[in-house]
This record gives sequence, C-alpha cells and structure tokens, in this order.
Amino acid sequence: MARWSMNDSALMYNLGNWGANFFSINKKGNICAHPTPNSKYSIVLKQLVDDLIKRKIKPPILLRFMNILEGRISSLNRVFKKAIQENGYPANYQIFYPIKVNQQRQVVQAITRFGKKYDIGLEIGSKPELVAAISLSAGNGIPIICNGYKDKEFIELILYATRIGYDITIIVEKPFELEKVIELAHQAGITPKLGLRVQLSSGGTSTVETSGGESAKFGLRISEILSAVDLLKNNGLIDSVKLLQFHIGSQITKIDKFKKALIEGTRLYVEMKKLGVNLEYLDVGGGLGVDYDGSKSSNAFSVNYSIEEYANDVIYQIKNICDAAGIACPNVISESGRAIVAHYSVLVTNILDTATQSRMQDIEQLLQQPDKLSPTVLKMVDIYRSIDRYSLLEDYHDTMQLIQEAVSLFNLGYLCLNERALAESLCTLIMRKISALVETLKPVPVELQNIQLSLRQTYFANFSIFQSLPDSWADDQLFPIVPLQRLDEKPAEIASLADITCDSDGEITSFVGANGMTRFLPLHKIQPEENYFIGFFMIGAYQEILGDLHNLFGDTNAVHITFNKKTNYRIDTVIHGDTVSESLKYVQYNGDEILQHVRDNLEKKVALRLISIEESSHFMELLGRTLHSSTYLE
Ligand SMILES: Cc1ncc(COP(=O)(O)O)c(C=O)c1O
Repeated sequence: MARWSMNDSALMYNLGNWGANFFSINKKGNICAHPTPNSKYSIVLKQLVDDLIKRKIKPPILLRFMNILEGRISSLNRVFKKAIQENGYPANYQIFYPIKVNQQRQVVQAITRFGKKYDIGLEIGSKPELVAAISLSAGNGIPIICNGYKDKEFIELILYATRIGYDITIIVEKPFELEKVIELAHQAGITPKLGLRVQLSSGGTSTVETSGGESAKFGLRISEILSAVDLLKNNGLIDSVKLLQFHIGSQITKIDKFKKALIEGTRLYVEMKKLGVNLEYLDVGGGLGVDYDGSKSSNAFSVNYSIEEYANDVIYQIKNICDAAGIACPNVISESGRAIVAHYSVLVTNILDTATQSRMQDIEQLLQQPDKLSPTVLKMVDIYRSIDRYSLLEDYHDTMQLIQEAVSLFNLGYLCLNERALAESLCTLIMRKISALVETLKPVPVELQNIQLSLRQTYFANFSIFQSLPDSWADDQLFPIVPLQRLDEKPAEIASLADITCDSDGEITSFVGANGMTRFLPLHKIQPEENYFIGFFMIGAYQEILGDLHNLFGDTNAVHITFNKKTNYRIDTVIHGDTVSESLKYVQYNGDEILQHVRDNLEKKVALRLISIEESSHFMELLGRTLHSSTYLE
C-alpha cells in the first residue's frame, strides 16, 4: 500500500482550497500558518500551542494571526486598485469595516492600524458600537458610517460629534428617522452628513444572505427615496446627502446577485444625480463571501467567485452605467467584514476522550472459547473471520439480521449480558471491515454507502459550540476542522465532535471534506498521554460576538501572534478567558458573596460537629480555586 503523505491529508481536509493559502501542512505532518499566502515562512501551530501551554495559557485558545488580518485588508485594496487601473475608473475605493463582524477592541484597533494607509473607515449599527468607534477614531480621524435604527440620543451624539470634528455619515434607514434627523439638526444648528440606504429588489436568498430584497427589514423603498429627497430639499438639507448605500446580505454565494444589485443600485445613483442630489459615494455594502468548504461553488458556505472577480464587477458595472448616463463615477465604498476577518483566527483545543466500544478488547479472549458462545454470536464470528470483498453485501445483510436476533434473544432471556455486548462489538468490527473493503469497490452498493456513518466515533473536545462556533449550531455552517498534527499518518478513525456542554445539540456532524461536505471527520487514534489538538479554522467573522454563555462556558483565552523572522513568532497580546467567577457575574452571581454564604453555612455545620474544621477549610479552598479557574476543562 502506498505510504500516506501530507498531500493525502491536504486532499482529505481540502486544505488547499479554503484558507486563501495562509495554511499548509509541513513535511513532519504539522499544520502551519503563513504570514502571507504561500510564503516560505511559517509558524507551526502545534509548536505554538505547546509553547503557550508552557506559558500556562491553556486550550481552548483562540489564535489570532495578525499578519493574516493585515494580508486580507491589503488583498482587498490591491484587487480594487487593480480593477480601478484596468477599467480606467476615475474615482477611489475605500473599505468601511463593519465592526459588528468582530468588535474586539484589539482587533478593530489592529484593523484601523493596518488600514490607515488605505483610509479605512468603520461602519457601526448601534449606540455602543458608535461609542467604540468614536473612541477609536479620536485622534486618528477615522471616518464612520452609521447604520441601524437611531433614537434621539443616538442622533444627537452623532450631530455633536460632527460639530467637534468627527467625520460621521448618518445613514437614513427609514422615513421616520429622517424627520427626526432634520428636526434635531435644526434644533442644534448642525449640518449633518447624510446617506440614504436603499432597499433594492435584488436581494440575497440563502440562510445568511437575507438583508436585501423588497421585504428586507432595512432601507428605503424607491418611492420613499423620492419623498426623502423632497423632504430634504424643502428643509435645505439636500446638499448634505453625499452617499447612497445598499447591502444585499452576508456571504453572497453567487456573483450574479452582486451584478444585479450593482446595476440596480448604480441606476438609482445616476437617477438621483439627475434629480439634483449631490451624491459623491456609492456604498455597495458587505456580502463579499469566503470559501469555507473550498468548493469554489455556490454552496451555502462557499462562493463561486474570487475577490478579484468581485472587485472587477463592482468597478466595471458602476463605470459602465455612469458612463452611459454621462454622470461622473462615484467613489466606491464596500463594507466587507467577513472577507476581512474570517481567515485570521483559529480556535485550537484538545481532545479529552473518545467514546469507544469499551468491551472491544475482550473479544479476542472470548473468541478463544467458541464452545461457550450461542449459535447467533458464533455465526457473527464466522462472518467476521471470513468476510471478503466478494461476500460484502450478503455479509452485511446477515450481520444486520443477526444483531436483531441477538437483541430479541436477550429480551427473551436466552442470551446473557456478556454475549449481547459481544454481539454489539462484533457488529462494529464487521462494519469496520466492510467499510475498509467498500473503499476498494466501484461503484459502491447504495446500501453500503452510509456504512461509515454507523462507525462514527464521538470525540469529545474541550470547547463549547455555543460560545466558539455559534453559527455551526444555529445555521449548520461549515467550518474547516483539522488536527494540528500527525498529518503524515492516515487517520484510523472517523468521528463526530462533541463539545463539553450538557446539550445534545453541542455536537458537530458536518465537516469539510475532499468533495465538499462530509458527515464525518477523519481523526487519529489518540495515543496514551498524547495531547491531540484540533483546529477550527476561519472563525474570525461573527463567531466571537454571537457566542453565548450556554452552561456558563465563557470566552476562551485569546492570543495575538505576529510572524517574526528572527524568533519565528511574537506574542503581541494575551487576553485571558473568563474565569468561573466572571461567567457567574453575567448572571448576577457575585464570587465574594458566594464564598461568604457558603462559609457561613459551613461554620454552622462545624459548630454542630457535622464536619471538621479541616473539611470545611479544604472545601472553601477548592471553591475559591474553582471560582478563579477557567470555565473549560484543564
Ligand atoms: C449594513 C451592513 N454592512 C456590512 C455588513 C457586513 O457584511 P459581510 O460581513 O458579509 O461583509 C453587514 C452584515 O450583514 C451589514 O448589515
């Protein structure tokens, strides 16, 4: 048999097709992260995690690769610059990072630092996001676009921020908002910077791409745009409107959707210019998707286009329509979030245990004494010993019938517990043999196609899906999952991944495989004392902030890493995960009060001599230690 190589593993996990060439497998079978796509420099993830553990930073750990973040920002700017040059486009492109995608302060700070040379801006959608953006913009002059529903306080804060020099555009989402903005602007005597968000008829349709279209929650309908223009003209504010915006949804999987929206949005831009609205910017929103499964298709978690094609289409379509109408081309803004932050973060955790067939090891011993076995079990033994590729289907049918027979015999009292367990284990062993033989068949008989699923082992990983991969639970979203090590060795098991929450939904059963989605994850048999790590890739967009505290599992440790030529890597920032006490605080428990209350109760028991002083103090010590420890397993 040919030796297993890292190329086989790369194919098995489709590693060359997702991850934008930031990840690879080295000759020793370890996953590496590269500072730039396909760079000769790399950081070995297993080594990095081992080093972090030595520093007492334990899994689960969110690894944030800052070079990758920087790389995504520069790639997006590069492809737009190229499209602008190639199409002879007479205006500029600018990214406004939508901070809802990942609001962590250090992350947004890094984005604005990396994006400074491209005049990156921030897009926000709520009061807390506005306050965060104001704080980040202070002294840096970062422009802000303000989406979302706004109340009086929200609008006043923007208006007065504008007065003191902040560059903030208020996007009008609904007609009632505009009236409020006009009234408050007049009261304050401040001229606002305004944008109108339009609800296009061309919207997204998949699970995540639902913000556009006529029934969308946000944006003004075309008739409302006309009324808004009249209202603004009547109130002397029409020259404040500089920007037209649309957003057709997130993770747009087909380029056609963008093309349609771009045509409709640019036509509106042109018509509004003809109406005398002094627009200068066309904001095409977010939606630029990423290829989570690496299939380069219009699957829900893939995209059938590249960022180059996206940039080209945006620039080409806008120019085409503006040129035809004799209208100056606008400066183009995109609010790409997912495409910037998805790749740069990887959650790494350890496998705690596997659900193996516990009595499997007894089988060979029992088979030594066949005279003690019932005829049903003996028939299974025969199948187990004699099965080959020519008898596969028949043996499969016989085994299915025999296992049912074994259950009936057990229920009737003719089979003892040991034999029932033996029949179960034999069934698994036969299925394993069948599964191995099936790989050599072409075509595979329909009945045998799903056999691998019945052999799936549950691997228990030290994390919470609800905290770290909420979209995997809520949207069945696929994320690439790969072991960090032993990729020069064929994985012997096929697994599903269970987290440590007490929830049956806390299990992942869909994975990225060689040909798109698979129902199992190939993993290695864990060796005694081995620290077997798996990585969840491309989780930088939306996951951190959507994550919740199910079972009170809190934020994981997070580490920011920068590639360094001399030392291989540098740890820029360590953000410690929530302790038990911090998680409890979210649900209104106070660690000190808990300790006080429990201590009072123990003192009463000591006084009554129900427990000793030593027992009481030992328990208090354990409780105190637990309150200050990680919510995850050590
Ligand atoms: C108005 C707006 N802009 C930008 C985005 C970011 O979209 P994406 O992360 O798909 O680029 C969103 C998210 O749906 C949004 O609602």
